[in-house]
Amino acid sequence: MENLLLLAESGMGKTMLLQKFRRDRATSLDRASGVLPKPVVLALMPDEPSEEAFFVQVLKAVDAPLHLPARRNRLSLRETTFRILRELQTRMLMIDEINSILVGSARQQRYFLQLLRFLSNELQVAIVCAGVPEARFALRSDPQLRSRVSDIALEPWRAGPELQSFVNLLVQGLPLRQPSPVDGTRIRRLLVERSGGITLSICRALERAGAAAIRNGKERIDLAALEDPEIWRGIASAGRGQLRPAALANGQA
Ligand SMILES: Nc1ncnc2c1ncn2[C@@H]1O[C@H](COP(=O)(O)OP(=O)(O)OP(=O)(O)O)[C@@H](O)[C@H]1O
Ligand SMILES: [Mg+2]
Repeated sequence: MENLLLLAESGMGKTMLLQKFRRDRATSLDRASGVLPKPVVLALMPDEPSEEAFFVQVLKAVDAPLHLPARRNRLSLRETTFRILRELQTRMLMIDEINSILVGSARQQRYFLQLLRFLSNELQVAIVCAGVPEARFALRSDPQLRSRVSDIALEPWRAGPELQSFVNLLVQGLPLRQPSPVDGTRIRRLLVERSGGITLSICRALERAGAAAIRNGKERIDLAALEDPEIWRGIASAGRGQLRPAALANGQA
């Protein structure tokens, strides 16, 4: 099975990417069987790597009614989850916030990674995990898993043409009456410097600049509007991530 580990700083857009991938693969009801297949399941890693909490999350992710036996035991939860995933013809299990695995003891982490391996083999599903870069260490600690997982890093934005397309799209989506001159190296550099290249920070700043443009009647965003420190107040430290060096250098903490 091809497994994947998507790594990026907090606020880069991992969860949105996973959600879009799942949405794009939505299926329709199979009338003969009465089953709505779920080829892609997106589960949130519980805040500690316990088998029970994990399977509860997977069951929640497929909207399975949680009629769990009074004495929930590991095996029955595991069996129920496996049976349901087979019925739903699941081919890929995506686990967001895999970094929560690091909260567990070394033993818990080992056990959990073994469980992932077992699950992938038993159900023949591909596993896609997403988390902050530290998560790499957790997954690397299992040699068998390590050899079967490829890493993909979603790097912070750089001031290139891809950022320009993204910014243009975001700005076009704002309800402004005038076209905004947001093309150009200076604007791209400013955005990268102040946001640390983090998607969430760029989105927030542009939204705020849009709101300000409506309030002050200019109805457009330009370089001067984005240079306003008010636009960036508290933004670089938003989300769960740490303060970024770029943010500190700009006194935006
Ligand atoms: N492709 C995108 N288009 C528009 N906005 C985006 C996109 N990706 C991310 N964003 C913006 O960035 C925010 C953060 O994205 P997301 O929650 O997916 O980040 P994350 O990498 O999962 O962060 P965390 O590690 O903290 O969970 C979103 O709420 C959204 O405002
Ligand atoms: Mg997320």
